[in-house]
Amino acid sequence: MASQLMKTDGAGTLRAGDVGRDVVLAGWVARRRDHGGVIFLDLRDASGFAQVVVNPEDAPASEEDLRGLRLEYCLQVEGLVRPRPEGTVNTDLPTGAVEVVAKTLTVLSPSDPLPFQLDERADVEEAKRLEYRYLDMRRSRMAENLRARSQAIKAMRRVMDDEGFLEVETPTLIASTPEGARDMLVPSRLRKGQFYALPQSPQLFKQLLMIGGVERYYQIAKCYRDEDFRADRQVEFAQLDFEGAFWGQDDVLATLELISSAVVEELRGEAIDLPIRRLTYQDAMARFGTDKPDLRFGMEITDLGSAFASTEFQAFAGVLEAGGSIRGINGGELGLARSGLDALVARAQELGAKGLVWMVVEDGGTVRSPVAKFLSDTEQAAVVEKLGAGPGDTLLIVADRDRTVSKVLGELRLEIGQPEGSDDLAFAFIVDFPVFEVGEHGGLVPAHHPFTAPADVDDLVAHPETALSRSYDLVLNGSELGSGSVRIHDPGTQAKVFEVMGISDEDAEARFGWFLEALRYGTPPHAGFAIGIDRMVSILQGEPNIREIIPFPKTQTGADPLTGSPSRVTEDQLFELGIDVRPEVRKAWAEEGDDPLA
Ligand code: AMO
Ligand code: AMP
Repeated sequence: MASQLMKTDGAGTLRAGDVGRDVVLAGWVARRRDHGGVIFLDLRDASGFAQVVVNPEDAPASEEDLRGLRLEYCLQVEGLVRPRPEGTVNTDLPTGAVEVVAKTLTVLSPSDPLPFQLDERADVEEAKRLEYRYLDMRRSRMAENLRARSQAIKAMRRVMDDEGFLEVETPTLIASTPEGARDMLVPSRLRKGQFYALPQSPQLFKQLLMIGGVERYYQIAKCYRDEDFRADRQVEFAQLDFEGAFWGQDDVLATLELISSAVVEELRGEAIDLPIRRLTYQDAMARFGTDKPDLRFGMEITDLGSAFASTEFQAFAGVLEAGGSIRGINGGELGLARSGLDALVARAQELGAKGLVWMVVEDGGTVRSPVAKFLSDTEQAAVVEKLGAGPGDTLLIVADRDRTVSKVLGELRLEIGQPEGSDDLAFAFIVDFPVFEVGEHGGLVPAHHPFTAPADVDDLVAHPETALSRSYDLVLNGSELGSGSVRIHDPGTQAKVFEVMGISDEDAEARFGWFLEALRYGTPPHAGFAIGIDRMVSILQGEPNIREIIPFPKTQTGADPLTGSPSRVTEDQLFELGIDVRPEVRKAWAEEGDDPLA
């Protein structure tokens, strides 16, 4: 590290080997204890903590100064490193064998009383933490998360560099890209009434780079999507974005294995299991009920259709007749009372199922279930056998449309089976996605952006609802870390895909004419991927929300309580941009009593 004028050592770096050295430390007062005239300070800096002993007799600071020394004062301390007296060694702390006896003590900056305790154990409301993020990040949780984020990015860059990728920055004031979310817009002053979009991803630029002969590109890219906030979503987030020319799916997945290994090694010092397991989309949906399965545990969803092929139980027979499916999971020894089982039925209904059949396997292999009387012995035995169940196991069965069964059992599987506090990592690649998925309201929605190559373009045109695409996701512990695809590299296929996706020729020409033209100049086959950095680091750090990984995130309602964004701008600024705020919005402002024009 380059030398620093104000300190000789990091507080957290002192060890027994430093005993006898004169050092200069600079940092913050994290703790203060007074012991009969002698003051003990925990001095914290970016490297950790050191114990400083201030004996007013040795230290030239006036007693008054010492008394006024409060928490989070910024100090410089000159002193001698000595071993801690026997019995006071703290083996939990890396610097716990030594202390610094202060010779001089200088207050570099005093601190106002704090809005909240920086004590690690203090439970501080998140709004407060965000309003004072700069104080929050003096606490170890945020400090460690920031460090982990930096290390993860460092590991990513190292892999990309070793593999010969060129780091290229792409613009953030662009024409809109269709990633499926709403664009964040920026008005243009020079071209009034026109707007830039902030990139939802660098998708089209990285494809242009491939056309431009950059065979391997990467970037730590800021992306912007105006979508509803969730634990794993922010309007502004970061991707490790990369693309390769003359590449196919296996090249991308091999690169992802290198990146995942390097990041986990860097953050946890562990190797991951390679190769990363691959599942097709269809398999994932059938066995885990989701395209982002948590593979840290089994409890697979099993098809029970054949067990009920000639059942007399109407609820099941009807579903099979209508082309739906009957599937179940073995929840293991849940030991639930009747009320607990009823709660599972209610939960299944809340998730959209018409009902839920539960069965508890008894000693001897018979089952206890509210519908046992409707099911033959053979049917019951077949269910027990198919679900690999033994005495004490609780079995949960849903009959419905395929999609509903997947959703309900997939969710119940997570709620029952998800290991709490587990440190395991289960990576998976999901491959062979369909071009379209059935959306929340039943219609078809594209599973990936429209530059994704279909497995077979004729099949896509003939059977859009079942056609597959050449896209893939990376999943970790039940979260989607990233996604990518082999791209379309000929304009004819691109035009057909736009058409199938309901983007008319004129619309495509107007929005992406420049891109369709670019595809006509010898475009190499290419493929790529983007990893959500915030998501990846939050899972590896065991954080439940990506806000914990983002230095200055937005709240659930898209606001930054620290800087007060988003905020109104002046009438002059609006005028210059040629923008008028709509009357109903003005009215709402006026009702709040703060319309500058009113
Ligand atoms: P996609 O839209 O799947 O693909 O995004 C890739 C990854 O980015 C992360 N991500 C987010 N993270 C936080 N907040 C958000 N709002 C958010 N949205 C997405 C996720 C996601 O898996 N251009 C394509 C990639 C490609 O085809 O190469 C793309 O952006 O981890
Ligand atoms: P019913 O015949 O509607 O009174 O339902 C009898 C039992 O079957 C109840 O426990 C329901 O929860 C269950 N059930 C009904 N429909 C379904 C279904 N589609 N899938 C699973 N269980 C169901």
